Amino acid sequence: MNPEYTATALAHPNIAFIKYWGNRNDALRLALNDSLSMNLAALHTRTTVRFLLDGSQASDTLVLNGRAIQGDALVRVSGFLNLVRQRAGVDWPAHIISDNNFPTGAGIASSAAAFAALALAASAALGLHLTEKELSILARRGSGSACRSIPAGFVAWHAGVEDGDSYAETIAPPSHWNLVDCVAVIQSAHKPVGSTAGHTLAGTSLLQAARVADAPRRAALCRQAILDRDFEALAVVTELDSNLMHAVMQTSTPPLLYWEPQSVEIMKSVMRWRQEGLPVCYTLDAGPNVHVLTLSDSVDEVEQRLRAVDGVAEVLVSAPGGAARLEPSPKDLEMKGFNQ
Ligand code: DP6
Repeated sequence: MNPEYTATALAHPNIAFIKYWGNRNDALRLALNDSLSMNLAALHTRTTVRFLLDGSQASDTLVLNGRAIQGDALVRVSGFLNLVRQRAGVDWPAHIISDNNFPTGAGIASSAAAFAALALAASAALGLHLTEKELSILARRGSGSACRSIPAGFVAWHAGVEDGDSYAETIAPPSHWNLVDCVAVIQSAHKPVGSTAGHTLAGTSLLQAARVADAPRRAALCRQAILDRDFEALAVVTELDSNLMHAVMQTSTPPLLYWEPQSVEIMKSVMRWRQEGLPVCYTLDAGPNVHVLTLSDSVDEVEQRLRAVDGVAEVLVSAPGGAARLEPSPKDLEMKGFNQ
């Protein structure tokens, strides 16, 4: 039971080695292909949801990084909360407070961590006891990639064909491999087209069918590379998969070009550094930032090289992260004898 109808959850964003781009069903966010990712330990979203039964507010309210949010973002969050409310058989409005520990506006895709934390906090606040699979399915309805931020470590999203079989699960725990993601944050003047709009354009590229048709082969190679801790094999398939997704984006109607000159400079440098023997590879999501993967022994070297590139605002370094999790409420802490 949750007498206060409130809960707080924390979730990490994730970086995909095999990407999700395009749905068979946009409303349900049923992906066209399986994807594979790693949670990012150093980055997180912490979200508190409180359902209000006292009539103090008529509709949902959202405070994100200390700022009251309205418009499309609130509509998306409310629509998602309706799914949770339906499940619990209630119609109470909620107050949501959400904070990211990474810089806002840095272009780090935060919808994965945001909807994973929201799914967990909202369902716990209403006393729903969902399994990890059920939570992953629920989070997916808020943002496709959010289903991968529910389980721990290295994660596979089984695309499935219907709501109940499209979910993510751990293929290896965070301790399995000392892989590290160094995100080179690129300053950008452009506001990119978001992923949700991007997914609907994927089918307009004549390359999308080829990308999707070969996805099972790439996913199998990537999974094996992770299980074998084979960096070179992971590097080759991860760069190929990122390039294929960006080829689809760039050949959609209208075309989406997320790369900035600095993104390309880093991709070329990473290819050269790997030829010289440094364990590095790149992957980019729907933005100009370059995720540079390496092994823990080489992090200092990679970070230093990335910081030396003109236009790199900062480098965010993350080891493999854990699962989305509930945080103890102030009341729990009080009962355990902690002073607030
Ligand atoms: C490029 O999960 O952000 O990061 O379901 O519309 O929220 P929505 O899309 P989203 O798409 C992620 C796209 C990507 C690749 C990936 O993470 O797999």
